[in-house]
Amino acid sequence: MRSSHPKFRNIRAVVLIAALANVSSGLRAATPAEIEKKIDALIARMTIDEKLGQMSQRVFGDLTDKDKEEIRQGRWGSLYGGGTPAQKIEAQRIALKESRLGIPLIYAQDVIHGLSTTFPIPLGQAASWDPELVRQAARVAARETAATGIHWTFSPMMDIARDPRWGRIAEGFGEDPQLASRMAVAMVRGYQGDRLDAPDSIAACAKHYVGYGAAEAGRDYNTPWIPENLLRDVYLAPFQASREAGVASYMSAFNDLNAVPASANAFTLREVLRDEWKYDGLVVSDYTAIAELIPHGYAADGEQAALKGIRGGVEMEMVSTEYWDYGKKLVANKQLDPKLVDEAVRDILRIKFRLGLFDARGLATPAAAPPPTADALETARKLAAESLVLLKNENGVLPLAQSVGKIAVIGPLADSKIDQLGTWSAGPADTAVTPLAALRETLGANHVVYAPGLKNSRDEGHDGFAAAVEAVRGADAVLLFLGEDAGLSGEASSRAYLDLPGAQEALVTAVVQAGKPCIAVIMAGRPLTFHNVAGKVGAVLYAWHPGTMGGPAIADAILGKFAPSGRLPVTFPRTVGQVPIYYDHLNTGRPAAETGLAAEDKFRSKYLDVSFTPEYPFGFGLSYTTFAYGQPHVSAAQMRVGGSITVSAEVANTGHADADEIVQLYTRQLAASLSRPVREMRDFRRVHLKAGEKQTVEFTLKSSALAFHKGAQLVTEPGTFQVWIAPDSSAGTPGQFVLVP
Ligand code: BGC
Repeated sequence: MRSSHPKFRNIRAVVLIAALANVSSGLRAATPAEIEKKIDALIARMTIDEKLGQMSQRVFGDLTDKDKEEIRQGRWGSLYGGGTPAQKIEAQRIALKESRLGIPLIYAQDVIHGLSTTFPIPLGQAASWDPELVRQAARVAARETAATGIHWTFSPMMDIARDPRWGRIAEGFGEDPQLASRMAVAMVRGYQGDRLDAPDSIAACAKHYVGYGAAEAGRDYNTPWIPENLLRDVYLAPFQASREAGVASYMSAFNDLNAVPASANAFTLREVLRDEWKYDGLVVSDYTAIAELIPHGYAADGEQAALKGIRGGVEMEMVSTEYWDYGKKLVANKQLDPKLVDEAVRDILRIKFRLGLFDARGLATPAAAPPPTADALETARKLAAESLVLLKNENGVLPLAQSVGKIAVIGPLADSKIDQLGTWSAGPADTAVTPLAALRETLGANHVVYAPGLKNSRDEGHDGFAAAVEAVRGADAVLLFLGEDAGLSGEASSRAYLDLPGAQEALVTAVVQAGKPCIAVIMAGRPLTFHNVAGKVGAVLYAWHPGTMGGPAIADAILGKFAPSGRLPVTFPRTVGQVPIYYDHLNTGRPAAETGLAAEDKFRSKYLDVSFTPEYPFGFGLSYTTFAYGQPHVSAAQMRVGGSITVSAEVANTGHADADEIVQLYTRQLAASLSRPVREMRDFRRVHLKAGEKQTVEFTLKSSALAFHKGAQLVTEPGTFQVWIAPDSSAGTPGQFVLVP
């Protein structure tokens, strides 16, 4: 269990202890020039030990006398992941009042999708396609986190992931650079607020820089090989967008990147981040990633690891101590340029000044994660609601009428608070409201009969089946809560099989035999493969791990209080054998034209034993209504390089429910000096349409959005483009325009 690991100790204690809010400095914020002057003055006085201390981060720990003495000596620049409020006050007091130069500590924590209020996992948040709501959720998280005296969260994770075997796909925003960039920017803005030194703002961290999500075979920490054009067009895109949004820090990744570890990679960390993007914030390593340069085969020993890490551009070392152990020697024997040390210290001090830690914020009283406010819970409920993706709804089995009669609630995820919170939940589980609790509350307990069938998602036993089948017999409708427990996704939680674990499929088979209307609600940290189960039930609602308010959101959706509007942020494969599968792939010279396996279609890019198309495409999701899309209309047949056109289409709600629709804009360049993907999403918009209502949805498309990288060079090449306004990445008929010089 994650919580047994030393770095997770104390997190819960922090969350549970209540106290007062932070005080604001009340002083005028220093100008950037004033901050640089102060940094100059400090650096001029710092010893090499004090500098290397700033470049070191450790887990908070127990604050022993030895720890206190080390803080007094300036041994640590940052503590993370723990500490009671009293310990935080004491450690900071020592740093500010008793260390020689009075440099404050910066406290960090992994607040990934909320602290006391847990929002859906980030992949679920991405399924909302609602950046503004994601920003609001991050604002709530910032408020709760800042109250505990934490200044810095290791979030958002913005690793593009196209392989659902990788457990950390749960922590990111899916496969698409456009969607992920919009989500990442929204989260950064939410955490950092208008001003970093506001008492309710925290510094964000763009992680894991870079390529971590492209781990070969989906096995965590494994190596990606990413050509530069793909790296820049796809994997770097959210990091660059976050840079433009003013993200305060980056975390270097664990993985090798084209045979140079990301945590010593001068190309990505110095050339791209510093020279091209002009970034002046802090870069922290991932957990022991500097020491891991040795097993990577990139450093022979700790001394080389320190040298390569610092030269590579990693400024603060998390947990391992190579910088501290060897930095002084490396400078003394002139292997390490002391200027690099000073530059790192400058960036570390700068974030401390920007956060106001030298001022009153440093001495603010760490308080408690306040219990979730009614507003916070409302935001969590709304985001969980918007993250729900309806994948199947045969004959309108959903929504159920409020007067449904009796429902049977079956399955291991119906009443598991901890599992619905998902990976990296920091807050207490007791405030979570499960679907079972919400359904009992809404329908009345005597209308709900509960028989989980299985003890947890991995349970292989059939002992509970008889009770489940019995419960179903007397019911008018059956809700099956299936999926993965929280521990099956997240870090070091890759899976080689993507099926529902344990005996869940067998449970479904047993339960559907009663012939009652069956609805599967799947909670998971990744796309799963559940083709057989989907075939057996009338409806499938994909709920990810929906967080504290997942239960009420799901109950509302099932009972038709709103129409589900979430859309897939990642392609769902039919089988793990199709992985990696993603929508913006290149075309091949022999694209398969149809899904069938006809003999005449043999020499095409496909499989003999399964269709080449996904189970559900990127961008897909049903509603309780239907939408009809008109042909896309382009404002001009030609667009100049440097110019723009508008693309519009009529979208009509042709069904009987009011609903939101996520309207998506895609393009394809038919020929260029590099092969271009079959589609690339350029924009999207959430629109609300009443039953019977229609609206012309218009996007402005700039030529700059059509640019792509040739190596390091960003080019916009004239040529013919197709353009779609569509409900998902596989639907629609394209319009056309020509980009001219
Ligand atoms: C993870 C990071 C996390 C860090 C600190 C690492 O194992 O990869 O995402 O921020 O630990 O807890």
